[in-house]
Amino acid sequence: MAEQITREDALTREGYRHACHIMLYGDCSAKLFGKIPIKHIVLMQMRFDGLLGFPGGLVNPSEETLEAGLSRELHEEVGVAVPVSVDNHVSSCFSPSCPRLLTHFYIKKMTESELKEIEKAAVVTATDHGLEVLGMVRVPLYFLKNGGGLPYFLSHSFISNSRAQLLSALQRCRLLSQGELEKAVRQAEQMRR
Ligand code: GTP
Ligand code: MN
Ligand code: MN
Ligand code: MN
Ligand code: MN
Ligand code: MN
Repeated sequence: MAEQITREDALTREGYRHACHIMLYGDCSAKLFGKIPIKHIVLMQMRFDGLLGFPGGLVNPSEETLEAGLSRELHEEVGVAVPVSVDNHVSSCFSPSCPRLLTHFYIKKMTESELKEIEKAAVVTATDHGLEVLGMVRVPLYFLKNGGGLPYFLSHSFISNSRAQLLSALQRCRLLSQGELEKAVRQAEQMRR
């Protein structure tokens, strides 16, 4: 786990850049193949570098608040300036992959129709579509045969500590049980060998 710091302390550090990313999620009533409940929509993105990550980006706190900067990045990357408040903040840490970078993570629950609007806007109005962002993806939270679903999803490559952010957010929001999360991580580990 990357070294944590409070949001307030992070903002007092000189010589650091700041990045803010967010997990947008919500409940979903659809069923895969008409029988496997999707249960929740969780949005991530395929980045320009081929890695999976959350929407968001670099914010300069001397020009805008972390949350306003995150909304601006969301406007660029998903086509909607989703309002973000300090209440949506969940953790800040020293980036394990980038020196002198502090990464702030947020979570926001939305309705199924709001999330579908975002998925549409991400293709139609987002200025970064096809450039910095290759597409939004939903995280499969179910288990199919032979590692299908969440274990295969976790076996892909993720930017920085976004995979750990995803796993802790799924636990925090109780989208999966502790046992299900452990099973997914174990099966994903076996695939990588
Ligand atoms: P530009 O507009 O090109 O500056 O990109 P950006 O502002 O959208 O920045 P980006 O989203 O790439 O994030 C900046 C840095 O934060 C990256 O170089 C990564 O080190 C890190 N990063 C990117 N995505 C994530 C994420 O989902 N989680 C975490 N923890 N870090 C991330
Ligand atoms: Mn089909
Ligand atoms: Mn960006
Ligand atoms: Mn940016
Ligand atoms: Mn970005
Ligand atoms: Mn950009």
